[in-house]
Amino acid sequence: MEIHSQRRYITDIYGGRQGWRLHSTQPRCRIYIMKLSSTFLGVALVALSVHAAISEAELKENRAKGLRLLSLKDGVDPVWKTEDDKLALLRAHIRFMSTTPAPRLLQLPIRLPRSQPADPAPSHQTQVKAIIANITLANMQSHLGSLTAFNNRYYKSQTGVDATNWIVKTVGDIAAKYPTSQATVKAFAHTWIQSSIVARIPGTTNGPVTILGAHMDSINLSNPTSGRAPGADDDGSGSVNLIEAFRTLLASGFKPTTPVEFHWYSAEEAGLLGSQAIAKSYKSAGTQVKAMLQLDMTAYVKPGSTEVIGLIPDYVDAGLTTYIGSLITAYSRLPFVTSPKCGYACSDHGSWYNQGYPSAFPFETRFGDHNPTIHSASDTTAATGFSWSHSLEYAKLAVAFAYELGI
Ligand SMILES: *[C@@H]1O[C@H](CO)[C@@H](O)[C@H](O)[C@H]1NC(C)=O
Ligand SMILES: *[C@@H]1O[C@H](CO)[C@@H](O)[C@H](O)[C@H]1NC(C)=O
Repeated sequence: MEIHSQRRYITDIYGGRQGWRLHSTQPRCRIYIMKLSSTFLGVALVALSVHAAISEAELKENRAKGLRLLSLKDGVDPVWKTEDDKLALLRAHIRFMSTTPAPRLLQLPIRLPRSQPADPAPSHQTQVKAIIANITLANMQSHLGSLTAFNNRYYKSQTGVDATNWIVKTVGDIAAKYPTSQATVKAFAHTWIQSSIVARIPGTTNGPVTILGAHMDSINLSNPTSGRAPGADDDGSGSVNLIEAFRTLLASGFKPTTPVEFHWYSAEEAGLLGSQAIAKSYKSAGTQVKAMLQLDMTAYVKPGSTEVIGLIPDYVDAGLTTYIGSLITAYSRLPFVTSPKCGYACSDHGSWYNQGYPSAFPFETRFGDHNPTIHSASDTTAATGFSWSHSLEYAKLAVAFAYELGI
């Protein structure tokens, strides 16, 4: 066991206090794993004080066999699984993170100190409401039509690559239309064929980054590589919310004080792979992140239920989540509720959480009342309960989040 201290940036969303603050020291556990059996590659033992690190040879051997080390639960032993096992987990609605251990040692997610309660006072309502008024539903509908037209957006399929290229082009064209914004759009390459995408509106200063994320991949659970997976709600909805928020912000001449980034992640469905890679690269580069907002599924209202925004309570920053509630009150026609937990590795906010960055996840409803068609050929805009007027509220929230935190 080692003791590390962690410095966190307290941003102006927290009662106007700005600056560095040293949190109390936190135990940070070095986790060592040991393979139990050389034939059955089932269980790896995690212990705080077992100093028998997995060997590079063993890691190599298992990887060569196509096995992946998956973390199924926070703080619980990771396990070796095949690609087929991964699919079986997804079909059983068990979420996981693919972990990529350093050669000699595996570090599991570490719980870092969380933030202070937020000051619930969105302070740029006139400006934000004027930008929100420019959100055009027809743009989101057209963009979702293009995204769902790809057979699927799986991270290992060519149509998944094509979908990434389509987003890079579409968002790039928007940036090119507003050159004074100096916004950039880049593919973030991974070790698999489908890239993630990062669009950045630079700040007038180089302060901590405000990040809005969605995942652009989709999956058909019975046939991931070539099965039909339109992914209209999961997560075409969040993806097009972000494209339209990006467009309206640039069209307004938005010049943030600190950088604002829009991310479309690859391979969320395969264990948050894209967002983990990006969050880890930000962490190792020492990049400060002011706040991260995840939009994953924003377009479904369960027939007969009251329309609400569900704030996911686990693997998020409590103070930031309270702040999202105040943005909803100021800018949305919908009420918010605290959702039941969505669980470990539920969406990309978890990748940022695990790197110690404050993240929040407003979801389409209470977890459990969400769209039942996801991960299938039926996740289309024609599905019962799919609601554009509901999804629109999340585009508004995205604009408000980017503006209030970036300005
Ligand atoms: C709304 O969009 C119009 C047309 O692009 C633009 O002229 C106007 O400045 C925008 N308003 C705001 C507040 O962004
Ligand atoms: C997966 O795709 C196939 C072929 O496109 C389709 O028939 C099947 O229904 C899909 N599976 C699911 C779970 O929707």
